Amino acid sequence: MPRPRILVTRAIFPEVAQRLSEYFDVESNTNDAPWSRDELLHRLQGKDGALTFGLERIDADLLAHCPTLKVCANMTVGYNNFDLTAMTAVGVLGTNAPDVLTETTADFGFALMMATARRVTESEHFLRAGKWTHWHFEMFSGAEVHGSTLGIIGMGRIGQAIARRAAFGFGMPVVYHNRSRLDATVEAECRAHYVDKEELLRTADHVLLVVPYSAASHHTIGAPELALMKPTATLINIARGGIVDDVALAAALRANRIAAAGLDVFEGEPTVHPDLLACSNVVLTPHIASATAGTRRAMAMLAVDNLIGYLVHGKAVTPLNAAELAQ
Ligand code: 8YV
Repeated sequence: MPRPRILVTRAIFPEVAQRLSEYFDVESNTNDAPWSRDELLHRLQGKDGALTFGLERIDADLLAHCPTLKVCANMTVGYNNFDLTAMTAVGVLGTNAPDVLTETTADFGFALMMATARRVTESEHFLRAGKWTHWHFEMFSGAEVHGSTLGIIGMGRIGQAIARRAAFGFGMPVVYHNRSRLDATVEAECRAHYVDKEELLRTADHVLLVVPYSAASHHTIGAPELALMKPTATLINIARGGIVDDVALAAALRANRIAAAGLDVFEGEPTVHPDLLACSNVVLTPHIASATAGTRRAMAMLAVDNLIGYLVHGKAVTPLNAAELAQ
């Protein structure tokens, strides 16, 4: 029986490629060229599965041109690149890579909040530019972190891991907003209190976004929401571009409507809106919240486990639409 054929759409760890090749005939994007949609379509011809990176739009149009495709395995927890309804309609399974990145991503969310509140990158740029000539009592004074109120929008696994860091490590009162309220035991375990979005925006000293991207969460934070926040507050986005209206945020930062922002994700990334680049009171990082070698390797290996699980043994590890496909 011929081995299933897999496309790996970006460069990946050698040991991950090696493991895939033990089970599959693999075509890899070893030089990491960003493929056009046409190129992706062309390379998907005859493939049974794809290892994807959260960047490739898998929709009805693409699927109509890829009749052999059976599974797309994202090495990311987010899967807003998948049109799951369209995938289910043509019998294609989608899988993601949850859990293995939770603590690492929570570490980064916390780091970005601290860097933003304490003006770490802004003051470093100042120092590197040779502008540090004397001490001044207000130089780069920032916002308090310990004991201040953290507001988390999106209280899934990563949100909960951040809440634990805040509550137990930094003595921060934590409020959260989520589509649905957590069980009382989980709330107690994270020491987090459920509030509506408006109260969270009005009361939090730091607002941290960890909500998955969907049409419903598009521009969760725009000008009206920024107007509710404290002028001393910070806004941190480690979720997805599009959750924040970047133009409205840049206007709020320019006007000191809020104190500062920390952004790991952007609308239209890897392009960053020039209005944001022009603001000094924003910490900008290139979508690296899960980027430690161990975690990225674990994410990729989980994607591989999903491909092997589904194409070799008939059952993926972390499927997204298995129940729908079974109907
Ligand atoms: C990825 C992420 O590294 O898992 C996710 O959903 O956002 C990150 O961990 C990133 O999406 C790479 O494309």
